[in-house]
Amino acid sequence: MDSLVENKIKNDLNNKIIIITGASSGLGFQIAKSLSNYNSKIILCSRNIGKIKSKFSLKSNVILKKVDVQKPKEIKKFINFVLKKYKRIDILINNAGIAKNVVIEKVDYKLINNVFKTNLFSAFLFVKYCIPVMKKNNFGRIVNISSGGSINCAPGYSLYSASKAGLNTLAKSASNELTNFNIKINTLSPGPIKTPMFPKNKLSAKLCIPTLKYLCTLKKNGPTGKFFWFMRQVKIIPSINLNWGNPPNND
Ligand SMILES: NC(=O)c1ccc[n+]([C@@H]2O[C@H](COP(=O)([O-])OP(=O)(O)OC[C@H]3O[C@@H](n4cnc5c(N)ncnc54)[C@H](OP(=O)(O)O)[C@@H]3O)[C@@H](O)[C@H]2O)c1
Repeated sequence: MDSLVENKIKNDLNNKIIIITGASSGLGFQIAKSLSNYNSKIILCSRNIGKIKSKFSLKSNVILKKVDVQKPKEIKKFINFVLKKYKRIDILINNAGIAKNVVIEKVDYKLINNVFKTNLFSAFLFVKYCIPVMKKNNFGRIVNISSGGSINCAPGYSLYSASKAGLNTLAKSASNELTNFNIKINTLSPGPIKTPMFPKNKLSAKLCIPTLKYLCTLKKNGPTGKFFWFMRQVKIIPSINLNWGNPPNND
């Protein structure tokens, strides 16, 4: 990577508090490994997070926490832990996810819950809990790991595609609510990468890292509510310039 770009990233990630969900394998692990090389605090979570303990044993800036993102109480407890310890959350990467290949007539309510709780509801809760502290500090960078599935809608993946499409519109809606703040929320589709989720894919998860770093270090006037695929911004939601007015005050 260009040394000027790398220097900017190093500066921008200096002393940041970063949460990564689903960090125990695949892309989340790759992101964790990459961001742990900067002078920021990285808090990683997933159910089987213990399995990567040895990988970070020499990194004093990395904390691992066991969290099942299907359980709202565990998410809240985790966020409270981070806020108590660091008082801030600067960057949130909503990466935890599962994929199920099943035709629509075989989908049952348990499976719908399983996929949506993991891929979408958890991201809603993480965003919900991070936004107040990000607003207070007038700083936040949020990246939802979505999928090409949210737009290509492959057969057998209706549940996965619908849950990932929800991440795209979550980012878009939240970005419309946050226009008065220096908080950017975007989605990143990693492309077909080889991980335990899709072991037959060919590409390395490392290919997503430059875009991920870019989205974590966006300038104040950088994009928000957008969908990225590798290094490209892809327009998946048309710009409809309605005057929404202010979001409701639900205090
Ligand atoms: N691989 C691809 O080609 C591809 C393409 C498009 C999008 N994606 C997206 O990229 C993200 C990462 O996937 P991956 O390919 O790296 O797959 P992966 O290796 O299977 O990783 C999934 C991660 O999610 C975590 N997770 C799953 N259920 C969880 C739960 N209930 N609570 C907490 N953590 C949970 C897993 O950790 P534990 O099991 O330890 O809980 C694991 O760390 C996913 O959102 C996926 O949809 C992947």
